Amino acid sequence: MNIKVISTTKTFKTLNSSFKACDEVSLDINQGDFIAIVGYTGSGKSTLLSMIGGILRPTSGSIYYDSFKISDASQSDITVFRREYFSYIFQHPVIIPNISIIDNIVMPLIFKSEITNEKIEEVKEYIDAFGLKSKENMKAGLLSGGEMKKVSILRALAYGCDVLIADEPTNDLDPKTIKVLVDIFNSINKKGTTIIMVTHSHSIASQAKTVYEMSNGKIIRTLK
Ligand SMILES: Nc1ncnc2c1ncn2[C@@H]1O[C@H](COP(=O)(O)OP(=O)(O)OP(=O)(O)O)[C@@H](O)[C@H]1O
Ligand SMILES: [Mg+2]
Repeated sequence: MNIKVISTTKTFKTLNSSFKACDEVSLDINQGDFIAIVGYTGSGKSTLLSMIGGILRPTSGSIYYDSFKISDASQSDITVFRREYFSYIFQHPVIIPNISIIDNIVMPLIFKSEITNEKIEEVKEYIDAFGLKSKENMKAGLLSGGEMKKVSILRALAYGCDVLIADEPTNDLDPKTIKVLVDIFNSINKKGTTIIMVTHSHSIASQAKTVYEMSNGKIIRTLK
């Protein structure tokens, strides 16, 4: 599936001013691409990802997944589409505090009817690689901030779609887990998953095939 971002702008209006968080951004992402976006805090990276992920609607411009125009689609069509085609790692971890780590990770798979023994085994391998094996039955609300981030990431990896959107996936993680995650990203990308990643780390960005820099809501250059 190819993604086309065409001259997309997001303007946030406050009481007496308006602010262009994304300013006529255009981007072509082909199936199997691995792109990273770097840029200063507040440059519009998360806003751009949210629009690509159908979470925010652009103020102007359009975003297509092949012929599906996500920027105009109804909320229910977007939800159905998202369940089918992509996984999202949010900048701030999203967990359900009163259920176990493993339940947090496998729960979205219900939408795909994919909770097979094989899948559970795969999830357990990921949990082990992330150093959470001894805690897999612990309530997620009891975890540290970094551990919650790990659970959020593991959920997206377990869901495993055509497109992975990752907003600062490595912040809050220790160097060992970062290495594990980068290896997983490279491996799923080799198998065909498109990865769109935002990061502040140039060394992690360099793992991607293409690196863009954002500033003041615009993609100002291609670094790689
Ligand atoms: N709902 C909103 N209402 C008003 N302004 C917003 C809203 N969401 C984001 N912004 C503003 O848009 C700008 C871009 O935000 P965004 O979260 O996209 O930045 P970012 O590049 O992801 O930054 P960071 O590296 O800190 O995550 C920020 O200045 C932010 O304050
Ligand atoms: Mg951000």
